[in-house]
Amino acid sequence: MLKDKKILIGITGSIAAYKIISLTRLLVKEGAEVRVILTKAATDFVPTLVLSTLSKKPVLQDLSISDEWANHVELGRWADVFLIAPLTCNTLAKMSCGICDNLLLATYYSATCPIVLAPAMDEDMWHHPATKINVDKVKSFGNSIINVNSGELASGLIGEGRMAEPEELFSYLQNQFSKSSELLGKSVLITAGPTFEAIDPVRFIGNHSSGKMGFAIAEELYLKGAIVTLITGPTNEKLNISEIKRIDVVSADEMFQHTMNFVDDCDIIIMSAAVADYTPIAVAKEKVKKKENEWNLQLTKTKDILASIGAIKKHRQFLVGFALETNNEQENAFQKLKIKNADCIVLNSLNDKNAGFGYNTNKISILDKSGEKIEFNLKSKREVARDIVSFIISKVNV
Ligand code: CTP
Repeated sequence: MLKDKKILIGITGSIAAYKIISLTRLLVKEGAEVRVILTKAATDFVPTLVLSTLSKKPVLQDLSISDEWANHVELGRWADVFLIAPLTCNTLAKMSCGICDNLLLATYYSATCPIVLAPAMDEDMWHHPATKINVDKVKSFGNSIINVNSGELASGLIGEGRMAEPEELFSYLQNQFSKSSELLGKSVLITAGPTFEAIDPVRFIGNHSSGKMGFAIAEELYLKGAIVTLITGPTNEKLNISEIKRIDVVSADEMFQHTMNFVDDCDIIIMSAAVADYTPIAVAKEKVKKKENEWNLQLTKTKDILASIGAIKKHRQFLVGFALETNNEQENAFQKLKIKNADCIVLNSLNDKNAGFGYNTNKISILDKSGEKIEFNLKSKREVARDIVSFIISKVNV
């Protein structure tokens, strides 16, 4: 996938620069042609000799070498993709307002290829309103952002702002070249994760859904050209693709409201969330103190989002439900498909080993409204996501 691809990497002055050594190795091993540009500050963090040895090309830093002008226009046109990683707060700010005071920035302004930015900064810098404005601004120029991770930062603090790992940058670049157009222009809405139903200010009713499956499906849909909106309940999962619109919700009711706001304009709707079926009738304003030996909590049914969409869906819309069953799996799933008026149901059984909540693998069957059933083997959730998206494509592109 990356063989013979021309990848230009711009490094700015952050401690995360050391990660680019591994990335360069990974890319060259895959057969990519790599060229590296650094800012002066970056040379404090990564030896240019290591990068030129690994990339097998001289590393560029200055706008002129001896009497020769470094041709930034040519570089920007040579690349199939320009990855700026790590991107510091300083270079980000310059990019957002047009400052051009080094070779890396001159190349950025003249590049004609897709540009991908991987920021790295301390948590407070990352959350600063000026940074937020600058990130939104460079995104609006058409650049893609690889989201930062949470973890240990150079300051020793733990928080958001860590640059993505070399393997994540590598797979982002791989995805960049595997993007296809089967769902080009199709608008897709997907729900993921659990919902939490508040009992009082500190307690809630939840479930074990991690959101992994829904997040993987959202990314696969994007790679097929779809415009994706992901509505997710509380989860630690993170999207690697910043172009996917993410809406965070907590309760079933919030998920219902947001889903209904979007549903009209969608071509494909996928309900992979493990929505709570019941919610407390009343939420206590204060923390409930323990007094009696027993506590009877009164619950009421939540609105069924899948069924609500099934009741109003238009002919052109394709609706996918999920079912998690422990017994009579197939029968129950077909019944759900019918009652909720879905076009297909993805069935997980809790009886399958290494499948379902929390695992990185899953085993599914897809049941179609025509009565067809396709069974798949145990696979990674990423591969399962591909199977589900391929199935959807085969149904919507007929
Ligand atoms: N679902 C929903 N809204 C709810 C409950 C479920 O949209 N309030 C959706 C889920 O996202 C999933 C499908 O319905 O796509 C199946 O959910 P599941 O909980 O397995 O089925 P239920 O209909 O709730 O039935 P039961 O819990 O009795 O199996």
